[in-house]
Amino acid sequence: MNYIGCGLGLRPTYINEILEGQSKSDWFEVITENLFTLPGFGRGQFFKKVLKVRESYPLALHGVSLNIGSSDPLSSAYITELKNLIQIIEPCWVSDHLCWTGVSGINLHDLLPLPYTLETIHHVVAKIEKVQNVIQQPLVLENVSSYFDYKASEMSEWEFISEITKRSGCRLLLDVNNVFVSAYNQGFNAEDFFRTIPAAMVQQIHLAGPSDMGTHMIDTHDTPIRDDVWIYYEKFINMVGPQNTLIERDGRFPTLLEIETEVLRAKSICKGVKLRNGGLRDSEISI
Ligand SMILES: [Fe+2]
Repeated sequence: MNYIGCGLGLRPTYINEILEGQSKSDWFEVITENLFTLPGFGRGQFFKKVLKVRESYPLALHGVSLNIGSSDPLSSAYITELKNLIQIIEPCWVSDHLCWTGVSGINLHDLLPLPYTLETIHHVVAKIEKVQNVIQQPLVLENVSSYFDYKASEMSEWEFISEITKRSGCRLLLDVNNVFVSAYNQGFNAEDFFRTIPAAMVQQIHLAGPSDMGTHMIDTHDTPIRDDVWIYYEKFINMVGPQNTLIERDGRFPTLLEIETEVLRAKSICKGVKLRNGGLRDSEISI
């Protein structure tokens, strides 16, 4: 995948400083639905500022309500709005989550895991193909954090993701923290996940910090990235080369300067990686 560097989730907290030129990020990612005009969503002043940011930076669209795994059909209003937004923003790529977020038209506003079965694969791949036909580009899908699994599952999450990628041609948004959280909560080995997923299909990585509840982890995005997550990230980068990486923060916001120390750390890991044959040349890495 084309490496464009390391960036930060574009949140209203930081957007004024970013527009003033105070950011060290290479690119940003904005929550798709925050730019929608559909009822229940809101554009407002934030949208105008996002357009200003787009004049100077690559911008990825990151959705939370596509509901790709639900038994509901795709929402044609949602897909039309997404297509229109893509024409306006011209994002570097379009992502959402490999999950379900509601049923019977009700949005639960949570990213819920899917049962890892062949039946689910058939169902999700058909919906991904429909989306890709409309947006005319590969959809990028993120692994979600999970707190339970299903008795019905027939395979591991990494086998499930690999199969969906292979059949649909979609790309992956690998959230390293989500792998850590799910592995902690469910007792699987996170290394198995990183070793098995199709690395060549990874478009982007997410890094974030969870809340440690003692018995389990919750994916809150309101703490610094944990050392364990940095270790998994560095190992993965060493294995596959530099990856487009984004720091997600959604609560207890530190200053832009503080949060971007995490962006700079990711950049430094990408720069330091020993590049293997076929990897990027140093001149192609923006630090
Ligand atoms: Fe994420």
